[in-house]
Amino acid sequence: MNVVAVMGSPHKGNTLALTQRFETELKRLGDVDFEYIHLRKADLRPCQGCFQCFIQGESNCPLRDDHDAIARHLEEADGVVFVSPVYSMHVSYLFKRFVDRFAYTFHRPRYFGKYAVVLAATGGIGLEDTLKYMKGVASGWGLEVTDALEYIAPPRNTPMKAMLQKKDRTRPAAEKFYRAMKEKKPRKLKFEDHFHYKAMREVYARLETMSPADYTYWKEKGWLKRDRIYFSDHIRYNPVHAWIVNIAAWFMARGIDKQAPKT
Ligand SMILES: Cc1cc2nc3c(=O)[nH]c(=O)nc-3n(C[C@H](O)[C@H](O)[C@H](O)COP(=O)(O)O)c2cc1C
Repeated sequence: MNVVAVMGSPHKGNTLALTQRFETELKRLGDVDFEYIHLRKADLRPCQGCFQCFIQGESNCPLRDDHDAIARHLEEADGVVFVSPVYSMHVSYLFKRFVDRFAYTFHRPRYFGKYAVVLAATGGIGLEDTLKYMKGVASGWGLEVTDALEYIAPPRNTPMKAMLQKKDRTRPAAEKFYRAMKEKKPRKLKFEDHFHYKAMREVYARLETMSPADYTYWKEKGWLKRDRIYFSDHIRYNPVHAWIVNIAAWFMARGIDKQAPKT
């Protein structure tokens, strides 16, 4: 089993120690190859906002750096751990830079069949928004999030002490993550998963000229077909949810076509 941890801290601090604890728990369960991508060491330059990755494809990004190597690691992993300290109420700049450079993945999700744990540490506040964002990134990219690990850990080498404490869930989270990677059960769709897919489908079906890379990707995956339920076929779902969302998608499509500029 191959796990990659994407580390958003600019130093060897609390989040590294906490991720190492998670690694130890995971390795207790079986044969796990646990690899670290330290964003502080990676040559991953800030996105320049040219939008080429979205419209023409990620190979058209003008930046030549460690992006492709990181993408290969994610591609080869069975599971991913996204790790960031809470800095100024959100993910670190390193983690955000990583997300921006892979932002085309929100349009062309790809990590279906892989699992994710998100892990964040804070001095006291900002955890909820940070973890919500990290979960949104992982699931937007196709990963199935099995857990969000939250820790209160005051800055190292300071006299600060924790004012609060969270229950330590490292072990059960490692167990759940390991089981998910081992069993690879069909993904149980929530109502919002149906909605997310169908709403995107209605938009991407109309992007042939506006965003050809997105349109081609969706078409080649078979995701533009009307009768398709979700991105991946390895799913369990409630047919009533699928039916309700189909009707909502029909109205959404009408709304988009009414508002689209006439050519
Ligand atoms: C620049 C900076 C900003 C921080 N912002 C917050 C914050 O908004 N809320 C908070 O509770 N703690 C904040 N902290 C404390 C860290 O979240 C906390 O110490 C965390 O455990 C650090 O993890 P690390 O050692 O892996 O970087 C901040 C620390 C730094 C260095």
